[in-house]
Amino acid sequence: MSLLTLAGVTKFFGGLRAVHRVSFQLSEGEMLGLIGPNGAGKTTLFHMISGFLRPDAGTVTYAGKPLVGLRPHDICQRGMVRTFQVARPFLRLSVLENVVVGALERVTHRREAVAIAGEVLELTGLAEKAGSMGQSLTLPDRKRLELARALATGPRVLLLDEVMAGLNPTETGRLIDLIRAVHGRGITVLLIEHVMKAVMALSQRVLVLNYGELIAEGPPAEVVRDRKVIEAYLGEDSAGPET
Ligand SMILES: Nc1ncnc2c1ncn2[C@@H]1O[C@H](COP(=O)(O)OP(=O)(O)OP(=O)(O)O)[C@@H](O)[C@H]1O
Ligand SMILES: [Mg+2]
Repeated sequence: MSLLTLAGVTKFFGGLRAVHRVSFQLSEGEMLGLIGPNGAGKTTLFHMISGFLRPDAGTVTYAGKPLVGLRPHDICQRGMVRTFQVARPFLRLSVLENVVVGALERVTHRREAVAIAGEVLELTGLAEKAGSMGQSLTLPDRKRLELARALATGPRVLLLDEVMAGLNPTETGRLIDLIRAVHGRGITVLLIEHVMKAVMALSQRVLVLNYGELIAEGPPAEVVRDRKVIEAYLGEDSAGPET
């Protein structure tokens, strides 16, 4: 069953066509990758799915209901939550409090929110840093915290925007394991990612965006051999998707 359906989704920034007639479906329980060169429109697409930007054309349907026009908070309440490409924790709040803020999207009582946050910190490997301030975290821990805040809202669909960026191979491997565990709990995942190791390891299916348009779709091993995909990346300074 399709949980999220985009049909003809389009966004202009002035004269720039950032996303053009994008249509795809995300099934319940799926882990779907979204790749494409810098500036392809991936984050803009996430902004439109999560209510931060309104599409100029097209429809977004989630769990059988139209989403366009709803605010991010409403969409989060309905079970779809995104992370930000640049992690922005509350710097002057502790790690625990940052995650409590997420949990308060789901429950009203602080005691319950703290309990949820505790569980999420265990799952994400941040429990030992619960008392540290947001500003003191290293990049890998900020990425985990971004994921933890999203998880604390109790999502049915998790939209991850480049959570691996800037991590070394060991940290990447750990985060791959964590995302797999999250998916194993029944959460549907849509993953924007440049790190191909992660895309290959995690995605059941991959969509490729280039200049705002979907140019390929299929199993990861097929997509990376697709001529259009290789050409799209050749326009950049590398000979293919980042490895
Ligand atoms: N608020 C905005 N105003 C004007 N142009 C924008 C805005 N946001 C994004 N763009 C432009 O839209 C295009 C798509 O940007 P977007 O951030 O969606 O790409 P992306 O695929 O996420 O890239 P990256 O891999 O670098 O994160 C780019 O040309 C970008 O410069
Ligand atoms: Mg982006």
